[in-house]
Amino acid sequence: MTRTAVHVAEEEARRQEEFIREIRELPQRPQTYHVVTYGCQMNAHDSEKIAGMLEEMGLREAPQREEADFVLFNTCCVRENAERRALGNVTWLKEVRKTHPNLMIAVCGCMIQEPGMAEKVLKQYKFIDLAFGTANLHQFPELMYTALNSDRSVVQVAQDDVIAEGLPMRRLRQDAAYLTIMYGCDNFCSFCIVPYVRGRERSRQPEDILQEAEALRDSGVKEIMLLGQNVNSYGKGLEHPMSFAELLKRLDEMGIPRIRFMTSHPKDLSDELIETMAGSPHILPQFHLPVQSGNDEILKRMNRHYTREQYLDRVRKLRQAVPGIGLSTDIIVGFPGETEAQFEDTMSLVREVKYDGAFTFIYSPRVGTRAASMADQVPEEVSSRRIQQLIALQDEIQKETLQRFVGQEEQVLVEGLSRRSQEAVSGKGRHAVSITLPGSMADIGQIVPCRIIGIKNNTLVAERIERNG
Ligand code: SAH
Ligand code: SF4
Ligand code: F3S
Repeated sequence: MTRTAVHVAEEEARRQEEFIREIRELPQRPQTYHVVTYGCQMNAHDSEKIAGMLEEMGLREAPQREEADFVLFNTCCVRENAERRALGNVTWLKEVRKTHPNLMIAVCGCMIQEPGMAEKVLKQYKFIDLAFGTANLHQFPELMYTALNSDRSVVQVAQDDVIAEGLPMRRLRQDAAYLTIMYGCDNFCSFCIVPYVRGRERSRQPEDILQEAEALRDSGVKEIMLLGQNVNSYGKGLEHPMSFAELLKRLDEMGIPRIRFMTSHPKDLSDELIETMAGSPHILPQFHLPVQSGNDEILKRMNRHYTREQYLDRVRKLRQAVPGIGLSTDIIVGFPGETEAQFEDTMSLVREVKYDGAFTFIYSPRVGTRAASMADQVPEEVSSRRIQQLIALQDEIQKETLQRFVGQEEQVLVEGLSRRSQEAVSGKGRHAVSITLPGSMADIGQIVPCRIIGIKNNTLVAERIERNG
């Protein structure tokens, strides 16, 4: 199936700019804002766009949500606890309004896009002033304007497969930037709600991506993280198709020091991509390759379209082509019907692959997904025990895998002062592993060459080395 995404026309962008101007002139508009973000990098990046629009409206960021006139929650619903936490915090803010009567409360993101949620906000959460879905992001100025001129909740949820270009942005970091290459997902893994709340897969035009990357490079950005729910299937449905590997090659030639990407689906990880990684000096030697389970029967029922052996083959190829590559994964335990033996297959896969990092989750049923209505939901105490076993195993393995870096030279993009010491800084090396080294505030945002001298609390410790030339 090929679908062409609807691009928001320039005309529409002008219209939204008009609303931004109108809001800036409103005497009663909020003066300060605070955005609370849950969920993945997609949401973090959407929050950067929202903050950009709010700044253009003349609002300034308040460091604490209790102090802001406008508070927006950008929500996630991938697991039940993410949703519960968001709703709890939104409800808590209602109390703050008692002492801050002009406080405006807004909610957006994936949770709002869930079926029935818009109605629920209107009925049960009437104190919310404004709610909008992920597909309405580009209309935020208009919706904000409407909410400011209304004493009822404004709720807007579209199902359009929209790609909005050219929104203003307020980037969280100046040295590293997110760059979305595709939106949505078509995979429908049976446990996952993302395709329902983020819509169908649609790729941005290569020219738009390359142009944005150039601008980032020219502004001095040292690292770009390409974003998509399944970056490996980039280019489907474009008028002039381009593979993800081709896009990477073009970006690599641009001279941006570091390029990384998230996330990859193992079924779409092509040999072309592996070869491109091996031959592109700016693409970092790291890969996040979610496996979810090590058992074929579970993988099948998860609708993942690969077997354990096919997955392991991809890992072998990656390691052959890019020696020492940093590998991480996502794993779910307690998927419906998962037996002890099937869970053991996941444990043995983790032992075999030896990841540098793993995000582990207890399966959480999501309404509307296929797995939610499967028989044999695994009891909570079984899943809890399994996840603890898995975490303990991964911790042990990580100690071992990190050893390979000791004695090696690395380049750290320094993110901030170390939490443990004022004379140390920390950041990520080229393999996406955290590294601590001696340094000061002046190093933040710089790439610092170093040599790894040891391991402490599952992170690497390094000493600085002089730059050559
Ligand atoms: N598009 C990304 C993942 C997005 S969600 C990808 O396919 O890699 C991030 C992770 O959350 C998933 O990899 C999965 O491990 C986990 N996850 C998604 N739905 C879940 C659910 N219902 N219960 C538990 N974990 C879930
Ligand atoms: Fe969810 Fe699967 Fe799509 Fe990832 S690939 S977002 S896990 S449906
Ligand atoms: Fe959550 Fe939406 Fe991301 S559901 S994980 S914020 S795509």
